[in-house]
Amino acid sequence: MEASFWIKSWELGGFYTSFHRRDIHPYVLEYMNPTEIEGKNILVPLCGKTVDMMYLAQYANKVIGVELVEEAILQFFQENNLSYEMPDAETYISGNITLLRKDFMALTHQEIGQIDWVLDRASLVALPYDMRTEYIKAIDRLSDIGTKQLIITLEYFPLINSAPFCIKPSEVEDYYGAGHIIKHVENPNLPNHGMVRKWNLDFLYEHGFVLTKYANGVVLQKDLKVENNFIVIFSSWV
Ligand SMILES: C[S@@+](CC[C@H](N)C(=O)[O-])C[C@H]1O[C@@H](n2cnc3c(N)ncnc32)[C@H](O)[C@@H]1O
Repeated sequence: MEASFWIKSWELGGFYTSFHRRDIHPYVLEYMNPTEIEGKNILVPLCGKTVDMMYLAQYANKVIGVELVEEAILQFFQENNLSYEMPDAETYISGNITLLRKDFMALTHQEIGQIDWVLDRASLVALPYDMRTEYIKAIDRLSDIGTKQLIITLEYFPLINSAPFCIKPSEVEDYYGAGHIIKHVENPNLPNHGMVRKWNLDFLYEHGFVLTKYANGVVLQKDLKVENNFIVIFSSWV
């Protein structure tokens, strides 16, 4: 998914940004509860305009969202009635929420400081394999020993060759197992999910994982076998 794909998606809106939820994700409420995140610094990669950031900001010390497309950032502030300041052309600050208009893969640790929590909802699944490996390297570079991460992925069949990509628990283990304790905390089958109806899927699970980092320098443990029985479509997330 190149930058042009996301710029177009935000321009068109509606179906093309159907990954956006109006509610706070229930796994965020459960696993990033106030006790867990009180006073913490939270990174939200590929943040879109998720309202999860509004919830997190109530308790966190700082929420840093990173988003490539300005339209998403502007919609976030507008829809949540927040005014913001721009100390430079890529930084939008409102209270303890900072949104950076940047390519997440190029972000440096210095730009964001020390991070206690990462929220990955629809980030890993938004990226094709090559970009996903760059994303995982960036997460490794930007996080610290002890950083926790909530990852939410979708697993479904038949496969779709577009976002949201199918990410199974074994893949999360492949990507992060070397440097993280991984707890697989949620795996409901969602037969009523919009994607199941729309793409006539056999099943769809929404996985939740809570990770705690214990070592730097995460390497992919093995190359994924790229499956070739994709349905090639422009997919929708609901
Ligand atoms: C599937 S959406 C998920 C948004 C958000 N996490 C949510 O739960 O609604 C992926 C977002 O990542 C943004 N994006 C894609 N590639 C990016 C990159 N390299 N750096 C920063 N943002 C990126 C897209 O513009 C899009 O808003």
